[in-house]
Amino acid sequence: MEQLKSLQQEIEAALANLKISNNPKSLYKPISYFLSIGGKRIRPILVLLAARMFNNKRQDVLNQALAVELFHNFTLVHDDIMDNAPLRRGITTIHEKWNPSQAILSGDVLMIVAYQYLMRTNAQYLEALLNSFNKMAIEVCEGQQMDMDFEQRQDVSIPEYIEMIRLKTSVLLGCALEIGAIVSDASPEDKKHIYDFGVNIGLAFQIQDDILDVYGDAEKFGKQVGGDIISNKKTFLYLTARNDADEAQQAIFEAQSTNENHSEKVEIIRGLYDELNIRQKSEFAMQEFYEKAMQHLGAICIDSSCKKELIVLADYLMGRDV
Ligand code: IPE
Ligand code: IPE
Ligand code: MG
Ligand code: MG
Ligand code: MG
Repeated sequence: MEQLKSLQQEIEAALANLKISNNPKSLYKPISYFLSIGGKRIRPILVLLAARMFNNKRQDVLNQALAVELFHNFTLVHDDIMDNAPLRRGITTIHEKWNPSQAILSGDVLMIVAYQYLMRTNAQYLEALLNSFNKMAIEVCEGQQMDMDFEQRQDVSIPEYIEMIRLKTSVLLGCALEIGAIVSDASPEDKKHIYDFGVNIGLAFQIQDDILDVYGDAEKFGKQVGGDIISNKKTFLYLTARNDADEAQQAIFEAQSTNENHSEKVEIIRGLYDELNIRQKSEFAMQEFYEKAMQHLGAICIDSSCKKELIVLADYLMGRDV
């Protein structure tokens, strides 16, 4: 845990030192605002830990770690517009504090700056890094589109949901780890296993995010609790509840989908989740993905003592409340 804190601080310091222009202020102010309000910095830590696990001696992995965090922040700024989210990391979202145009453009800049940092590497890694990053970036957009399409649909299956979160969330965790492996000259098999470790941790991570969206402590969570229920998101909780509900409960779900009284809607749906034991069922699903992840980590051909830090991080993620 101490180790994670110090990596977090390293990322924080590097972000504070980013050399980004400040003119026009209306474009750059939202960026510095967003980057200065914290966040767990999981994804850059994954880059650093993977590189460390594969015994990387190079100094410049930090640039790729920053690239991943900048890209993640770009996705959050745009995601908040799409999800109509008022809060992020405990403060007002960019599109609310400024306006959607500024959120779109400052998000765009974050994404482009991410590429600038990704490219700060030895030429021999450039093609592999860009291939991995580009594939991931397109997949995130595919997942985000599916997430929004699902808001209007009533027939989303759990496998479709898993594919949607694999794309919108998990591939970025997989890519972060793969990047650490690429710049450390890991074997193709090990690169695949570390990627699949990340994807499975990512699936558990997004199910946890779905749980926290319903059951999180508003203060700690930093996002609007109940936001997924308000916007009819097809989360793991919702789909499991719809699968398990009896006729009377189905009728309540249907009626609530158009309830404009948001706090009432959240309360009623949360009540149904409680009746159906949905939190526990979701935690069970998380555990299954966690175990799959561990199988992939176990299959990597290096001494198990080198894998400890990633296990500590994975365990922290499973128990998080933020
Ligand atoms: C939020 O990611 C978006 C999801 C994929 C659920 P994080 O929970 O890692 O957000 P920060 O960066 O710590 O704020
Ligand atoms: C996260 O989905 C996916 C991306 C941001 C790409 P969510 O919409 O659940 O993320 P939060 O809950 O707003 O952080
Ligand atoms: Mg979203
Ligand atoms: Mg969102
Ligand atoms: Mg969420």
